[in-house]
Amino acid sequence: MGKTILITGGCGFIGTNICLEARKRDYEVIAFDSLIRKGVENNISVLEKAGVTIFRGDIRNTEDLIRLQNEHKDIEGIIHLAGNPGIPWSISYPTYDFEVNALGTLNILELARIYGNIPVIYARTNKVYSDLINDIPIAEEETRYDWRQPKEGWLDGVTSNGVNEGFSTEGFGKYSHSPYGISKLTGDAYCQEYFLTYKLPVVINRMSCIYGYYQQGVADQGWIDHFVRTIGFGNKKLDIFGDGKQVRDMLWGEDVARLYLDELERIHYIQGEVFNIGGGINNTLSLKEAITEIETLSGNKAEIEYHNWRHADQKIYISDITKACEKLEWQPKISPKEGIKLMYERYKNS
Ligand SMILES: NC(=O)c1ccc[n+]([C@@H]2O[C@H](COP(=O)([O-])OP(=O)(O)OC[C@H]3O[C@@H](n4cnc5c(N)ncnc54)[C@H](O)[C@@H]3O)[C@@H](O)[C@H]2O)c1
Repeated sequence: MGKTILITGGCGFIGTNICLEARKRDYEVIAFDSLIRKGVENNISVLEKAGVTIFRGDIRNTEDLIRLQNEHKDIEGIIHLAGNPGIPWSISYPTYDFEVNALGTLNILELARIYGNIPVIYARTNKVYSDLINDIPIAEEETRYDWRQPKEGWLDGVTSNGVNEGFSTEGFGKYSHSPYGISKLTGDAYCQEYFLTYKLPVVINRMSCIYGYYQQGVADQGWIDHFVRTIGFGNKKLDIFGDGKQVRDMLWGEDVARLYLDELERIHYIQGEVFNIGGGINNTLSLKEAITEIETLSGNKAEIEYHNWRHADQKIYISDITKACEKLEWQPKISPKEGIKLMYERYKNS
């Protein structure tokens, strides 16, 4: 029997991908989840079939965490994904967002400390970088923005491969992160502090756009999944905030799952490190390009309604994943076009 690991938010999209990869690697897996995210209950049968133990609880609630410790004394590693994953909710409910993303993370770090300083791999977001990102010079092309060939100087922490871990997390009083970015940044800072103060082995992943199987895509979060379901099999109506030329690097769920477990298995070599994680410079798409891709696959035409830009949106965000690729000998395997096709085919056949 393999080691036991805890995956908070384990019934969610990324959680399900990681739980399944962990079972393939023969870990005993406990998925700790409040099931607050609508639709994630659909993942439970897949998880249980794979032999994952579901533990219903809330990371904000210390009684749930004590119950977990009483029932499972042998946990040797934590992958912490539970959280509010979207900006719009954080703007409407900032206290809730803080409690889940910041206080909840502190609770998980304390849990790891009580278990005997067990490793924690922490899922964070590129939104810890403020919309200072939008100060990088961009060129407007027909279907996308581009800063691969800037006309003038880069900001610190940006190279032709994208945004690296050296980019400032400061807002300097004028660049917004969104409440979501701040609650995640608080969790990020606590992780770094627990490493420095308590020698807790932590790794922080600042992720851009992750997409793939088991996502419950809605307009506010999980946009690729939402686009595939709506254009391919729904009412074809999409609301786009901005002009649709915004660009993201995209990483397939199964690729991110391999990465998290590789990190856990190499924790003594990478503890205390921050990684920018995404598909990187070779795996980018704009919203417009993604829509065209799905229209071609499905033969359907999207009905798009354009709205004003959202607060703190980034026109381009591309993670520089060089550090993760080098330190972990890891590479994304599935391109965005391949991934979209895989999702489309799966939904078509289900
Ligand atoms: N999907 C992405 O593109 C992306 C990008 C950057 C960062 N992230 C981060 O990765 C993590 C996982 O994202 P996801 O896309 O799988 O989201 P998700 O919503 O599918 O999964 C999150 C899971 O956490 C659970 N959860 C929420 N609050 C909880 C609580 N208080 N206690 C216990 N469980 C709770 C939800 O029920 C859900 O199953 C999030 O923290 C998110 O911010 C995701």
